[in-house]
Amino acid sequence: MKTYNILLLGSGGRENAFAWKLNQSQFCNQLYIAPGNAGTNQFGTNVALSMTDFAAIKEFCLSHEIGLVLPGGEDALVAGIYDFFQKDVQLQSIIVAGPSQKGAQLEGSKAFAKQFMQRHQIPTASYREFDNASFDEGIAFLKQHPLPVVIKADGLAAGKGVIIAQTTEEALNSFSKMIRDAQFGDAGKKVVIEEFLTGIELSVFVLTDGTHWVLLPEAKDYKRIGESDTGLNTGGMGAISPVPFADANFMNKVREQIVKSTVEGLKKEQIEYKGFIFLGLISVNGNPYVIEYNCRMGDPETEVVMPRLKNDLVELLDALWNERLNEITIHSDVQAAATVMLVSGGYPNDYEKGKKISGLQNVKNSILFHAGTLANNQDVLTNGGRVIAVSSLAPTLKEALEVSYHNANLVDFEGKYYRKDIGFEFQ
Ligand code: AMP
Ligand code: GLY
Repeated sequence: MKTYNILLLGSGGRENAFAWKLNQSQFCNQLYIAPGNAGTNQFGTNVALSMTDFAAIKEFCLSHEIGLVLPGGEDALVAGIYDFFQKDVQLQSIIVAGPSQKGAQLEGSKAFAKQFMQRHQIPTASYREFDNASFDEGIAFLKQHPLPVVIKADGLAAGKGVIIAQTTEEALNSFSKMIRDAQFGDAGKKVVIEEFLTGIELSVFVLTDGTHWVLLPEAKDYKRIGESDTGLNTGGMGAISPVPFADANFMNKVREQIVKSTVEGLKKEQIEYKGFIFLGLISVNGNPYVIEYNCRMGDPETEVVMPRLKNDLVELLDALWNERLNEITIHSDVQAAATVMLVSGGYPNDYEKGKKISGLQNVKNSILFHAGTLANNQDVLTNGGRVIAVSSLAPTLKEALEVSYHNANLVDFEGKYYRKDIGFEFQ
């Protein structure tokens, strides 16, 4: 196998975990991260490029002989980076580890994802779709819908487009705000109303070359700001892997009922997809249902999945491109991984940036994946809501959490906050 110059797109904890992993590969020659953060530059070179400025990305790829592009987040994929490369003779042979624009619609449009699941009999909450033309029908539908009811803006809404309404009044208000007041702009022109499912959630990660697929270690993230899963939704406050209830029986159902039908469905519909599929699942009485698809890895799940993944990531992405994932066996560390996210005071509402981070050098036995940081001369400053993910591997989940919490305490900045109960259900 040849070696690659690699361009990784993004600046979060997920990209830092990818950079850490790519840098360990014997097949990684030069690694560039655009735009990266104060952590990613330990593993490669940060470059100032916008993730959706494809013309600038093209120029960079040609001048730096890039052979592999890994878009960390959904933006570049939903904007069509894969198709942009495929249509350009100079870029065609460069690996873009992610789906075509059509494939990225699994994440980019909730209505598209729901219709896809219906066409392929993939278990998911029952639903209906409404827009401005069917607004009155939507109101009538909501008035008789059992509670709670889930209301979702169709398009990308930075994780804020899902409302779980506890009362009919709240449901009607949210629905009306999305469609009539364009609360989420074009993303809310169409709205999906779906049945509320009760169960426990987990994230399962598929890597597919369009025909074959493998599963990476599964994970569970903790989305709410407050302990015991209370308060506002965030980008993710921590994660664990493996997930104790995802036993062999459950994972078999996931493979048979969800992964197979998803990959076969994409192929049948001739949707080009060579990339990650992130299945946001909920276990309802031991049966998996799809809550959402994402066309990329999760954040902060990547911060526990990469430490447990023993395979060479570049080798996996090369196999993905050359449609030989059937030759790959995934090897996961039997140890458990946990990550605890240190966030800025006030997050996910308003928060201040530019706080000096201290104690980084005192951390032992954890990996610090920077999420929102900025290098400033010798200092590292906070530069986002989620600042640093403290990831640890240990024989048991309990020990992994202990190590992460010990180190979370050693790193400091003004206003630092973190949840003290990651993995609480499994202790
Ligand atoms: P999504 O952006 O689709 O992942 O939704 C955000 C969160 O809302 C999910 O992680 C779930 O916690 C919750 N959620 C979404 N859809 C449902 C549903 N049908 N039943 C229960 N909870 C849901
Ligand atoms: N952790 C959830 C996500 O990445 O969307």
